[in-house]
Amino acid sequence: MGEGGRPFVHLNCAISLDGRLAFAGGKPAQLSGPDDRARVQRLRAGSDGIVVGVGTVLADDPSLRVHWELLDSPAGRNPTRICLDGRGRLPERARVLDGTAPTIVATTRAATRRYPAGVETVVAGPGPAVDLGVLLADLDGRGFRRLLVEGGASVISSFLRAGLVDLVTVYVAPVLIGGASAPSLMGGPESHGPTDWVELAREGLEPLDEGVLLTLRPRRVRGPPSRQGF
Ligand SMILES: NC(=O)c1ccc[n+]([C@@H]2O[C@H](COP(=O)([O-])OP(=O)(O)OC[C@H]3O[C@@H](n4cnc5c(N)ncnc54)[C@H](OP(=O)(O)O)[C@@H]3O)[C@@H](O)[C@H]2O)c1
Repeated sequence: MGEGGRPFVHLNCAISLDGRLAFAGGKPAQLSGPDDRARVQRLRAGSDGIVVGVGTVLADDPSLRVHWELLDSPAGRNPTRICLDGRGRLPERARVLDGTAPTIVATTRAATRRYPAGVETVVAGPGPAVDLGVLLADLDGRGFRRLLVEGGASVISSFLRAGLVDLVTVYVAPVLIGGASAPSLMGGPESHGPTDWVELAREGLEPLDEGVLLTLRPRRVRGPPSRQGF
């Protein structure tokens, strides 16, 4: 259980050495090696829900299922896929809507979009951004105890700036992407100085594949939360 009647929130992502989540323009990058990929599958398998933003669905079209074959394990329960789609941009043919695992779309009163039968919706606030506090309270009421937030940059920023993250793991690959348009780990509002940044405390550092795995806990959040301005 996380703080204050909400699920425990674990944020996980993979970045390049220069802190990028993807290639120029958001083109997906396979940054993890085999051991990190297996680690992420274990995280997914141990979660009740996996959270991504509609930006990640548009860029990567992930299935967000557990790839049991990478775990040498018989297939088990798939966690619920939770997509933040405040304005109804989720493509009809997105894999998260394919019915192969439970899916919740978190949307807002600003959206009029209908989703396929079997996909649950949570209307979290007036919009255009999904109100994460409302969403987490709703998920808590549905019995979700552990969430894995996988990204992308805007969603990571919103969760961290709202102080809604309990644990962070980041796989850092020894590659440099560079340029100006490749998204970095944290999008959202600009930081103009140390009063705006998000501070984390290091809990672990271990070699993994060709890179390193960092385990951190958010220390404190300063500056305005970015509920509407991610
Ligand atoms: N390396 C990794 O581990 C990893 C993991 C995941 C993604 N990625 C990369 O990340 C990139 C996508 O990142 P992104 O920043 O463009 O998209 P994103 O964070 O996946 O999604 C952002 C979108 O979600 C919607 N949203 C609704 N409520 C929100 C809230 N409270 N906070 C934030 N977003 C909210 C907004 O769209 P609406 O206004 O339409 O609702 C927003 O534009 C891709 O390049 C992908 O490949 C990398």
